[in-house]
Amino acid sequence: MDQASVTHRYQFAAQHRLHSERFSDEENRRVFGKCNNPNGHGHNYTLFVTVRGPVDPKTGRAADLDALDRLVQETVVARFDHRDLNGDPAFAKRTTTGENLVLLVWDLLVANLPAGQLEKIGLIETRDNYFEYSGEAPVTVTSGSPVW
Ligand code: NI
Repeated sequence: MDQASVTHRYQFAAQHRLHSERFSDEENRRVFGKCNNPNGHGHNYTLFVTVRGPVDPKTGRAADLDALDRLVQETVVARFDHRDLNGDPAFAKRTTTGENLVLLVWDLLVANLPAGQLEKIGLIETRDNYFEYSGEAPVTVTSGSPVW
């Protein structure tokens, strides 16, 4: 059956501060620059969730968007909107970078979606910063000699 992808957009506003316990204060300032400001700062994040699936011949749909919407609203938007990301338990040992955010959002969603349906998480943090994660590359197991 033909597969198609669907992307839905979400928005949330959150505060964060880029700071790692593994660095000294001076190193934190050097690595993260103004994003290390002790008072933190906020972003209006735009999140893109892409799912894929076979196009149902009866409905013409590749995914249940209502179910996806409920899942993303409950597990991601409600969790982060108008919050301090640094206070989220998932970021206790990880910096609140866009990279770590797309990894976390992937983890929060993938376990609650049918296997193979989640395709990509995209996140706009600022006008010029976009992050994305598509899961780990699938491992292809071939029998016999390795394919180069
Ligand atoms: Ni920031």
